Amino acid sequence: MAQNEQKKGVVGQPLDRVDGKLKVTGGARYASEFEAPNLAHAVLVQSTIAKGRVTRIDTREAERSPGVVAVITFENMPKAARPTNPPGGQTIPLLSPDIKYSGQNLAVVVADTLEEAQYGAELVRVEYAAEPPDTDFEKHLDQAFAPRSARGNTKRGDFAANIGGATKKLDQVYRTPIEHHNPMEPHATVAVWGPDGLLAYDATQGVSNSQRNLAEEFGLPQDKVHVINPFVGGGFGCKGQAWPHSPIAAMAAKAVGRPVKLTLTRRQMFTSNGHRPPTHQKEVIGTDAGGKLVALQHQSVNHTSEADIFQEPTGSVVGMLYSCPNVEVEHKLVRVNVGAPTYQRAPGESTGSFAHETAMDELAWELGIDPVELRLRNYAEKDESEDKPFSSKSLRECYEQASAHFGWSRRNPKVGSMRDGNFLVGYGMATASYPANFWPAAAKARMLADGRVQIMCGTQDLGTGTYTILTQIAADGVGVHPSQVRVEIGDSFLPGAPVSGGSCSAASAGSAVQLAAEALRGAVIAYATGDANSPLGGLSAQDLDVKDGRVFSKANPSKGITYPEILAKYGKTVVEQQAFARPGIERGPSGPRTNQGQAQGDKGKGEGYSMHAFGAQFCEVHIDPDIRMVRVARWTGAFGIGKVLNEKTVRSQLQGGIVWGIGMALLEESLLDPRYGRFVNSNLAEYHVPVNKDVPPIEILLMDEKDSVVSPVGAKGAGEIGITGAAAAIGNAIYHATGKRVRDLPITLDKIL
Ligand code: MOS
Repeated sequence: MAQNEQKKGVVGQPLDRVDGKLKVTGGARYASEFEAPNLAHAVLVQSTIAKGRVTRIDTREAERSPGVVAVITFENMPKAARPTNPPGGQTIPLLSPDIKYSGQNLAVVVADTLEEAQYGAELVRVEYAAEPPDTDFEKHLDQAFAPRSARGNTKRGDFAANIGGATKKLDQVYRTPIEHHNPMEPHATVAVWGPDGLLAYDATQGVSNSQRNLAEEFGLPQDKVHVINPFVGGGFGCKGQAWPHSPIAAMAAKAVGRPVKLTLTRRQMFTSNGHRPPTHQKEVIGTDAGGKLVALQHQSVNHTSEADIFQEPTGSVVGMLYSCPNVEVEHKLVRVNVGAPTYQRAPGESTGSFAHETAMDELAWELGIDPVELRLRNYAEKDESEDKPFSSKSLRECYEQASAHFGWSRRNPKVGSMRDGNFLVGYGMATASYPANFWPAAAKARMLADGRVQIMCGTQDLGTGTYTILTQIAADGVGVHPSQVRVEIGDSFLPGAPVSGGSCSAASAGSAVQLAAEALRGAVIAYATGDANSPLGGLSAQDLDVKDGRVFSKANPSKGITYPEILAKYGKTVVEQQAFARPGIERGPSGPRTNQGQAQGDKGKGEGYSMHAFGAQFCEVHIDPDIRMVRVARWTGAFGIGKVLNEKTVRSQLQGGIVWGIGMALLEESLLDPRYGRFVNSNLAEYHVPVNKDVPPIEILLMDEKDSVVSPVGAKGAGEIGITGAAAAIGNAIYHATGKRVRDLPITLDKIL
């Protein structure tokens, strides 16, 4: 009753985005929109061959072109501007004539205007000694090598000894293509050198990471590099690590003695900031007659570049998703002449779940067992890959609720048996999962004399709603109306927080803000309770409640005092508290300003627990019987993602993930021309992503999940789980409708003719 109503806070409510108005009115400034006095513009010249050597770069014509300030190559880069500690491998900026991929940076043209720099870049003549590139990793599977420590490898029981005894056996290969992130906002860096070092407006998923990278590259102490990035126009992983254009912008600015702005073109976004590597996943599963898994093997290979190592951990989900006593999961790599691959939305879980959840569907058909029932028969009560209990898991409820809402019971379990008018109808489902990551983060909470609250945290908002959820957490934590809270993020001089990757920011930055806000409330209230003459004198924190900035006695709500009154009475113009949240502690002590929050290696597994979000994806496809065009007709997804911090933004994230899943299943593929090692669809006209017409109504069901282990704030993260299982659910529905099993993405209509 009243107890509940009083407790009901802002967290969880579908609060509108606090930054929404700024965004739709153009008030939100993105990296490339920042200006500086005397700003010059830089444009990259990139290799048009994928393998070989530059024999000559002729910059004379470019240098004479109007407005051009400098043309900088590996040959003429001023020593003083050169990064002292350039990033390793292929991310070396402009430092070598050796070509390892098409799109490698060779020169940068700096000019007074963007157009002059663009024109100048066209005038740089490059001569090459070209060699035939090698871009097809599947030709070299026999030469695949194991990375030193492969993520997702697991082994339990004895696969080889037990697969022979299986009643049913599946042995298939699943393949996923190269994909690109394609955020709306391209990468950009505005580099400004001054007496305090380097100021960079940088499009990044991690201001602290960007700061650390630039500091290392130029041999500067971290506090001499200031990275600012208040808004991010999407990231999806490509803005999560260092790429060459940022140090190139900083180098160019140093070389010409002016601030420099460098923005990647859409085409350069296909070569200069990573991609999802293609995968070749061989899966062998053996079951008994009842469908119980007895042995499972997953062998995955992905391509990586000539100089970097990136391994897509496709098998991490395979090792833990179902109960099976004999499991072997391994990953290998093949080097090809492409730029470095990187993390892309649910790296590993999205690609691995396509293989594994398609394989489970194939087994269900083979065994004549309903696909949901097969998954329930193999339900993992604990994480067998780590031999740990789950901190929480509502996957059973997800299956139940999603199948009930979807109407799974209406499914006729016969291929091609369902129709809607002329259309073939298919129902498909799959399991979704993603790790609940929580990495160390710090935050500061400050109250001003008028009771307004400022929150400072070096996290960032990729468009996901971070500003909004932090506002809600702070409002509840301090006990003020959300309109009284102002959140400052996207600045490396703020208390450190991790890169916004791995769906970690709600848990990480959210927990730090919650702890800081609670500490601030405690500190302000202590002035009043510690004073015998105050209306709250002698009361303890447990006796008190706070609402809209007024602290009052629970027993006698008329006895109270407002925050501004407290600050005025005790002569405080400002009260400030800082908190540090890290895995393994429920309540963090206040700490000094820190950038340790970027320690990504810390997986944050709560002591003794395996922590994951889970979900169930159900979809219906309609297929034209003649031309085989596939339409996803409707979708129900149920998810257990810990505490829901904002019902509106979380739904939007999960829906967005599923939209990505539709793209992954049916549309997305970056095509390399093997002759030149060049992407041929490096633009948004020919790289297809779902548009409104491709996206059906998506119903999202959120499980009521309380998990006090994952993080102080109780959230598991929602940014990536939506894409997991989604492509398999669509492929499984296509099989139901047509009897065509497609094991290589995307499922274009030629594959189901
Ligand atoms: Mo996400 S691929 O961890 O930015």
